[in-house]
Amino acid sequence: MEAKNLKVGDQVTQHFLILESSVNKAKNGKDYVSFDCRAEDGTMFTGCKIWDCDVAPEGVCLITGKMEEFNSNKQIVAKIVTVNTELSPDILQPQCPLPMDVEYLRNELAFHIGSIINDSLREFTKGFLGFWSTHTFPGGAECEPRFSRHPGGMRVHHAYRHGLLQHTVEVIQHAVSAGAIHKINTHERDLLIAGCAIHDIGKLESSAVVNGVYEYTAYGRIYGWSSNAHLYIGAQMLSVYCALQEAWMSQSEFAMLSNIMLSHHGPHGDVKPKSVVSQMVHLADMVSSNLNRMNCGLAGTEEDDIKRDIARESYIRIPDYEEIKDEDEPGVNEDYGAEDDSARAMFGTVSGLYDS
Ligand SMILES: [Fe+2]
Ligand SMILES: [Fe+2]
Repeated sequence: MEAKNLKVGDQVTQHFLILESSVNKAKNGKDYVSFDCRAEDGTMFTGCKIWDCDVAPEGVCLITGKMEEFNSNKQIVAKIVTVNTELSPDILQPQCPLPMDVEYLRNELAFHIGSIINDSLREFTKGFLGFWSTHTFPGGAECEPRFSRHPGGMRVHHAYRHGLLQHTVEVIQHAVSAGAIHKINTHERDLLIAGCAIHDIGKLESSAVVNGVYEYTAYGRIYGWSSNAHLYIGAQMLSVYCALQEAWMSQSEFAMLSNIMLSHHGPHGDVKPKSVVSQMVHLADMVSSNLNRMNCGLAGTEEDDIKRDIARESYIRIPDYEEIKDEDEPGVNEDYGAEDDSARAMFGTVSGLYDS
């Protein structure tokens, strides 16, 4: 059973990553362990207990126990905790709770970059992503390919394996659609795709997976544990890449890409979007991150949701037609269009809608 579906009273036998643990004294004088842990599906449990125990477990553990409730908080009361040294903590790196086709995402990214008309900008974009995926900043030491498996965020959005790739593709797709609707020119479209593709590259250096937990790196912390750290780091990576690779780019295109990188958090960042393209990247970034949070939110805090007005509980999910038919919902029939009385009552007639 997935950890998020565990109910009070359920028996638990599965692997968890211990995030924090400590030995404490109970009122009866006996030692007990208190711990926080995270399951493979990203569900966190805090204040869990092992009674009559004086050894605080660490790492990936097989936990056997029972779900209980204390102060409205679901927690595991463990009977047996076996530390599993053979399993890498990476197995508990959160996974996307919805189906994800990583191959499709890779192809989609390559397709959009390939559609950049300007040869130099297209080769720059390909080279830039490929280089920083396989080289560490700033010196360019080689490393394992990391772009496609990196998370897209720390907590708020796309905070799971392959999240950065998924978020980058979503931002490109939203932005390209908006660009077509609002008729941007070809040069703007090229810069839009390049900017979307590279906008979050700084996340490769501002955050890392340590024992299955996303943390700011020492370099990311220099920017004050800020979610804007990757903006500044990304702009530095842009400069370093151009110097190291002697990549061709005109000063104005470099300025445009720098502005996209630095301003893609819009009003939440220090640098504001200065071009239509920068503003489109910011808006596409916001759509992708907020809708992902609503659909796939993992362990982010309630404050995150309230601040962004994206608390999932505040929005109704409308059941699909099949589900409504299964429940024999009144007012829904096979041809739900023109003859559906309930739809007409809600929205009026089609001509009524468009004539006004
Ligand atoms: Fe970002
Ligand atoms: Fe982003």
